[in-house]
Amino acid sequence: MAHETLERPDGAAADWTIPQDWARYSAAEHAMWDTLFERQAAMLPGRVAPEFLAGLDMLRLSKPGIPDFGELSERLMAATGWQVVAVPGLVPDEVFFDHLANRRFVAGRFIRTPEQVDYLKEPDIFHDVFGHVPLLANPVFADYMQAYGVGGQRAAGLGAIEKLARLYWYTVEFGLIRTGGDLRIYGAGIVSSFGESVFALDDPSPNRLGFDLKRLMRTQYRIDDYQQTYFVIDSFEDLLRQTQEIDFGPLYAELEGQGTIEIEAILPDDTVITRGTQAYARSKLVGA
Ligand SMILES: [Fe+2]
Repeated sequence: MAHETLERPDGAAADWTIPQDWARYSAAEHAMWDTLFERQAAMLPGRVAPEFLAGLDMLRLSKPGIPDFGELSERLMAATGWQVVAVPGLVPDEVFFDHLANRRFVAGRFIRTPEQVDYLKEPDIFHDVFGHVPLLANPVFADYMQAYGVGGQRAAGLGAIEKLARLYWYTVEFGLIRTGGDLRIYGAGIVSSFGESVFALDDPSPNRLGFDLKRLMRTQYRIDDYQQTYFVIDSFEDLLRQTQEIDFGPLYAELEGQGTIEIEAILPDDTVITRGTQAYARSKLVGA
């Protein structure tokens, strides 16, 4: 998503899509995908939601290396009716929401360089495809993503995109889920990051709080480093149900009069799973 005004690049279609041009990837680019894939696939069992692992096979296509979106979309379409389409980079909010509402996931086509293995400013194809596609193979999560797109189209008309964007951030990108007695990761920003896959579950620094839709839509977030607070859902069914049952129009109006909540704050009504030390974020401040 993007909040600034963007210009559609030459060569992009009216819906901002571009050909993936799979044949143009170099051997080194395919090797980078394989390296990242193997590293994450090896460390995720026991950390990631089982629904994600079940969807990971979706990415094991007939050719090794970076997935060909055509073949990937055929498989995803058969599973849940979703497709993956390439875009040049950030797209305007209304374009993003329109694609989601029509079960199309937009993905960047470039892959990080060896110097960027563990830190990347803009999401690359590894984040977009490895991080997001496995859960799009899950019928419940697939419906949640479409519902989010439809909700985004409504929020745009109500001037509430910022609030809805926080829901995306704290679920689709950085969500945790209860699985049996454990916490597991499922957000794409976590599962595609070697460091945050460990930090989000094991580090004493961040807060881990029970999912609370209204509270979360007021909570600031950071885009430059590991999160200081994670929100934990009970199940994907519950997430879908809560976002389908609530009437977002009155909710936005209600939240309008309330301020934003600081990233690391813990409020009296929060369900606290972990009260974080915030030691990691503080150590970064000292070093700044
Ligand atoms: Fe993402």
